[in-house]
Amino acid sequence: MKNILVTGGAGFIGSAFARYMTESYPDYNIIVLDKLTYAGNVDNLLPISDEPNYRFERGDIADRSAVVKALQAHDIDTVVNFAAESHVDRSILDADAFIHTDVVGVYIILDEAKKHGVGRFLHVSTDEVYGDVEEGFSVETDSFAPNSPYAASKAGGELMVRSYHVTHGMNTVITRGSNTFGEYQYPEKLLPFFITEALDDHLLPLYGDGMQVRDWLYVQDHVTGIDVALHKGVSGEAYNIAGEDSRYNIDVAKRMLDLLGKPESLLKHVPDREGHDRRYAMNCDKLRALGWERAYSFDSAIKLTVDWYRNSEWWWRKIKTGEYLEYYKRQYAARLAAAE
Ligand code: NAD
Ligand code: TYD
Repeated sequence: MKNILVTGGAGFIGSAFARYMTESYPDYNIIVLDKLTYAGNVDNLLPISDEPNYRFERGDIADRSAVVKALQAHDIDTVVNFAAESHVDRSILDADAFIHTDVVGVYIILDEAKKHGVGRFLHVSTDEVYGDVEEGFSVETDSFAPNSPYAASKAGGELMVRSYHVTHGMNTVITRGSNTFGEYQYPEKLLPFFITEALDDHLLPLYGDGMQVRDWLYVQDHVTGIDVALHKGVSGEAYNIAGEDSRYNIDVAKRMLDLLGKPESLLKHVPDREGHDRRYAMNCDKLRALGWERAYSFDSAIKLTVDWYRNSEWWWRKIKTGEYLEYYKRQYAARLAAAE
């Protein structure tokens, strides 16, 4: 392993991985390939922009010529694929881009990686492929039951990876992370959206009763989980990466408001997300057996996250313009009006 292509490395988790790998493994070359969709942001890579073992290329994983060019130009031997459309609410409004990237894109990057002789292909997936988990904890052998177009597109991508391992003998590993939060997360996901809205004293649209349960994982822990799976995971296997810290959405929102010193009256119950999964929860004994342990508690990580957004207006204020405001209107205007 020497030349690692990090696809989707200008997004939230991919950029955290690129920053971590560039700094932790000076002997590896880290090459980010990213389409720079609305969620991709080169500011996320500023901390490593001058590092000699880091490069950035703009390109779409569903574009064969762009993929071939990147694989050849950098003599890539390892691919870590983060590239995805990643927001459930957007997949409910329009799923086209999800099929393009999360299914077709995964197929193209896999296929070209195989032809190029890539020796290791790690695909980043999600706990959402297991669907709603009423009780207990998902293990890696559980069947898929995706409920949103996003989750279904991620399940489709995973199945392509599996097929390339079984049929073509590719050296693959899949990781399934739980709800991740931390610095540089695009402010459409629950925590960064609510933190940045609360800083401006805007109402926070909590879907339904707010009693949905998510398992919260700090981004640095997600990244070290991927590192362990990349180096030690058995080819053909999947590994859950869980924070093992389940919380109701409403409690997460209240904790964040408390840290910001903002009132709970900002919370507004609005009509629920369609097809909303009540609970995700995973067991991650399999990854733990490879030596991974999370380093951050939810309490310490949410403090770091709230502080980062409080001190990083330079980063998020310029995102909350243009397309973002269009999306906000489409997603929330009627919901907030219905809740009045
Ligand atoms: P993100 O939306 O912040 O970033 C996605 C990145 O992929 C962006 O930089 C975007 O420009 C890029 N991209 C999109 N389409 C592309 C294409 N066709 N070609 C090249 N680049 C493209 O997402 P994230 O939250 O960082 O998630 C990264 C991965 O982790 C995704 O695969 C997601 O499914 C998975 N995941 C996310 C979470 C979470 O809580 N955020 C949890 C588990 C798994
Ligand atoms: P999200 O960050 O979109 O992640 P996911 O859907 O992948 O779990 O949402 C986390 C939880 O927060 C989910 O149960 C939906 C809820 N939520 C709201 O209540 N209001 C919102 O405005 C958003 C974006 C999410």
